[in-house]
Amino acid sequence: MSVFVILGLLVCTEAQGSRAETHVFVKKGEEVLLKIMKADELQKFFFFSWKFNASDILVTLTPKAEPEIYPRYTKRIEFSVENYSVKLKNLQKTDSGVYTAHVFRIPQELKVAEYNVTIQDPVSPVDLTVDSVSRSSNSCNVTVTCRTQDSHINSTFRCDTQTCSQEGGEQSKVTTSGASLQIYLDRNGSIICNHSNQVSWTENKEIIEHLCPRHADSESLSPGISVCLVKTVVFSVGLIIMVSAVITVHLMDKLKKKK
Ligand SMILES: *[C@@H]1O[C@H](CO)[C@@H](O)[C@H](O)[C@H]1NC(C)=O
Ligand SMILES: *[C@@H]1O[C@H](CO)[C@@H](O)[C@H](O)[C@H]1NC(C)=O
Ligand SMILES: *[C@@H]1O[C@H](CO)[C@@H](O)[C@H](O)[C@H]1NC(C)=O
Ligand SMILES: *[C@@H]1O[C@H](CO)[C@@H](O)[C@H](O)[C@H]1NC(C)=O
Ligand SMILES: *[C@@H]1O[C@H](CO)[C@@H](O)[C@H](O)[C@H]1NC(C)=O
Ligand SMILES: *[C@@H]1O[C@H](CO)[C@@H](O)[C@H](O)[C@H]1NC(C)=O
Ligand SMILES: *[C@@H]1O[C@H](CO)[C@@H](O)[C@H](O)[C@H]1NC(C)=O
Repeated sequence: MSVFVILGLLVCTEAQGSRAETHVFVKKGEEVLLKIMKADELQKFFFFSWKFNASDILVTLTPKAEPEIYPRYTKRIEFSVENYSVKLKNLQKTDSGVYTAHVFRIPQELKVAEYNVTIQDPVSPVDLTVDSVSRSSNSCNVTVTCRTQDSHINSTFRCDTQTCSQEGGEQSKVTTSGASLQIYLDRNGSIICNHSNQVSWTENKEIIEHLCPRHADSESLSPGISVCLVKTVVFSVGLIIMVSAVITVHLMDKLKKKK
């Protein structure tokens, strides 16, 4: 009888089409540990299972028996009899999907974990090229292109004698493979091109000052320093004269009194 109950429950699970709440991204070839989310529900069940995409069974467990790992998953998963978590190893793209754990208790079955697992390749390198630089005495414009195998994005940067800025602010786009391509100016004055997905990123950068040297800045720095220096010297000399004057007057007074 109970065999039929188990079979029936296995077939009928996932009748309620819900969305997996927890989204997990894993780099291809790496592993992930899926934990039970409702651990306090794990008491007095007569059947437990981890499944993939609602139909493919990874492992089952009945009380007082060894867990049964299904042939397709032996060597690819580790199941913990202490906490019922499952570790998926050497993940490949085809392992992407929804993983669920259920406990079966009379009268109902209960979902105790659900993960939407997506396996991604690491992103490819990016290339940052300078398309044009135009300089005048008080401004400098640079156009760059950030390129990957399947996508590119360009952007213009403008420097005046003081600062550099990006025309239209940070630029970004989603590539055809679903990764993100971003181009921006960081606080250190580097043009950064960042190719990223949820599991990896690659970058390439160009220091804007190498393309747009800021002569005006370094020149304005020296007058600034000398003004400060002159002030300090004048102040110090003034102080020395005042102190010596006071001492002299004092000494003269003493000499007069002695006489
Ligand atoms: C899992 O994530 C993928 C990719 O974001 C999405 O297309 C899919 O609808 C999700 N599935 C569930 C059941 O949430
Ligand atoms: C469950 O047990 C496994 C193996 O013993 C361990 O690696 C993992 O950290 C444990 N997970 C939790 C949630 O305790
Ligand atoms: C598992 O389900 C996901 C959608 O949730 C689907 O994209 C994927 O192809 C399925 N994998 C297999 C092996 O059936
Ligand atoms: C940079 O671009 C701005 C706006 O298009 C323009 O006014 C300026 O003359 C340009 N500077 C140079 C050096 O080309
Ligand atoms: C930059 O990209 C825009 C739109 O993609 C394009 O119209 C423009 O010609 C590009 N500029 C350069 C310098 O590549
Ligand atoms: C700026 O440069 C310093 C030193 O090279 C580095 O530690 C810091 O992370 C950089 N900041 C940014 C925003 O890149
Ligand atoms: C690139 O983007 C990713 C994802 O947004 C981020 O984690 C990473 O720190 C970025 N790298 C740099 C150099 O900004």
